[in-house]
Amino acid sequence: FTIHTRTVSESCPSNIALIKYWGKYEHQIPANPSISYTLNHCKTNTSMEFIADEPFSVQTFLSGNEEIKFAEKIEKYFKSIAQYLPWILKGKYIIRTENTFPHSSGIASSASGFGAIAKCLMSLDEVFTGKSSDEESLQKASFLSRLGSGSACRSLYNGLVVWGETEHVKGSSDLFAVPYPDTEIHEVFKRFNDWVLLIHEGQKSVSSTVGHGLMKTNPYAERRFQEARENFVPMKEILKNGDMNGFIRLVEHEALTLHAMMMMSEPAFILMKTGTLEVINKIWDFRRDTGLPLFFTLDAGANVHLLFPDNDSDSGKIKEFIETELLPHTQKNGIVKDVMRF
Ligand code: PMV
Repeated sequence: FTIHTRTVSESCPSNIALIKYWGKYEHQIPANPSISYTLNHCKTNTSMEFIADEPFSVQTFLSGNEEIKFAEKIEKYFKSIAQYLPWILKGKYIIRTENTFPHSSGIASSASGFGAIAKCLMSLDEVFTGKSSDEESLQKASFLSRLGSGSACRSLYNGLVVWGETEHVKGSSDLFAVPYPDTEIHEVFKRFNDWVLLIHEGQKSVSSTVGHGLMKTNPYAERRFQEARENFVPMKEILKNGDMNGFIRLVEHEALTLHAMMMMSEPAFILMKTGTLEVINKIWDFRRDTGLPLFFTLDAGANVHLLFPDNDSDSGKIKEFIETELLPHTQKNGIVKDVMRF
């Protein structure tokens, strides 16, 4: 029998990288492996209505408002993945999507957005092929989302997730993400806060697509790719042993290296703002004065992801410090609080 209209709904969280992906080859193949935390509360909820036997077209609504540019992007994306889903161009789509976190907040909505779209596509695929959802369809969702936005492929799995082939993580691949083995993660890393300080809410001056492209001519690129690969060695040890100081050193180093690469691009660009640097210095002062495990990472933007363990008796003091000392550095007292538990 044929199915004429079908609506599926899926939800997908965003993620924040600890070892960063910055630089890629053709077909969204990453220049180095990366590892991230998948968030809990910061999600994209998407419903996809598919009307079969209509000319191929895509209509998108973001929080109820029609988005023409986004629809064009999705149309292009669907054409690019048609070889993997033979039915995909045989109908019309109405896609409604909303984020549970503020727009342009430095929380990657492209990761959660493409993750949710890929999950919707796999749900439709199950309807058409009669196959039931399994590990393989989850992996295919990760594979498909990667072709929309590289870092999205990590959002399909919970907890710590690796994308990019590395000898240090069994089963890892450039084509899709894999969950980092649970038995190799110390308990202290399984309950972690990520509070995002919204330093600057405007549009980014340089998109991540352009940023990745500038790694092609960056004289430090090869050294950086090598370093990221090598960083899996200490990361593996740290995750296993619960070495919090090692984790802090490595994660902050990765964040600053990402931004150093931007400064060494030609042309150079800087996505950090004054507030970003003020907050980083305050975090360092706080750590020196108290010894408490509050640290940061950065995405490709000015906002600061504050990381600290959730199972720590000290987290009360850390939260108080954030609210009183760091919040004044944000625009409109903006903070998005998430927590990873797995
Ligand atoms: O997935 P993209 O193409 O938007 O790249 C994102 C890259 C960073 O967010 C800066 C780092 C990462 O690994 O997520």
